[in-house]
Amino acid sequence: MKIAIIGTGNVAKNLGKALSKKHEVIFGSRNPEMAKVDINAKVTNIEDAAAQGDIIILAIPYKASDEILQKIKDKARNKVVIDVMNALDENFEWAKGFNESVAEEVAKKLENTKVVKAFNTVFAENMSKGKIGREKLTLLVAGDDEEAKRVVMDLGKEIGFIPVDVGNLKMARYLEPMALLLINLGYNKKLGTAIGIKIAGIKDEKNAI
Ligand SMILES: NC(=O)c1ccc[n+]([C@@H]2O[C@H](COP(=O)([O-])OP(=O)(O)OC[C@H]3O[C@@H](n4cnc5c(N)ncnc54)[C@H](OP(=O)(O)O)[C@@H]3O)[C@@H](O)[C@H]2O)c1
Repeated sequence: MKIAIIGTGNVAKNLGKALSKKHEVIFGSRNPEMAKVDINAKVTNIEDAAAQGDIIILAIPYKASDEILQKIKDKARNKVVIDVMNALDENFEWAKGFNESVAEEVAKKLENTKVVKAFNTVFAENMSKGKIGREKLTLLVAGDDEEAKRVVMDLGKEIGFIPVDVGNLKMARYLEPMALLLINLGYNKKLGTAIGIKIAGIKDEKNAI
């Protein structure tokens, strides 16, 4: 598959590293000439990357999303769009209410796309392996399109996660604050980023619930 990753930051690089093992990764950057991604992948502008990708991953800050969604709107039509964003403001405080989600906002702005919320509950450092040491992390996946969710869960499994379908896109309302909790544990409570979310009792081979 061709996977467009919009952004060239921490999340983009780690997901890119993992996904480029089996897929063609194309990064979309505001400054493709300046971007350093450390893997053998194409870096182009945002519109071009979105046009080339069969799947588009939004690895961008929430505050930049309005402008970027506008840019990729036409190119994203009918495609799977993976929203990794967490809505944090400049003080690392929550920038949204709790009866809404970034993912639902993305779906509304990108008409006729299959938006899937995933990877937002994982620290970027753990995204390239899906594991902490030898322990597999759970990849919590929400979306309204069953087939799109399956595609994303398969990608997660390839990386090393145990993917779990948590339900429709509305479930992103719970997944996004979970990320805030994880960030609080990692930084404010000083547990570091070598921690992650795991739902106990799910067998690897079962793959989904
Ligand atoms: N870091 C984590 O552990 C983590 C975990 C889960 C989810 N997330 C979420 O994933 C998203 C990306 O996080 P990240 O840690 O990868 O962020 P980051 O390191 O700051 O990278 C964000 C990338 O987005 C692009 N971008 C486009 N417009 C931008 C703008 N106006 N300002 C800044 N960057 C802009 C930049 O790439 P170009 O300069 O090449 O355009 C930049 O490298 C965020 O929504 C975050 O909340 C992060």
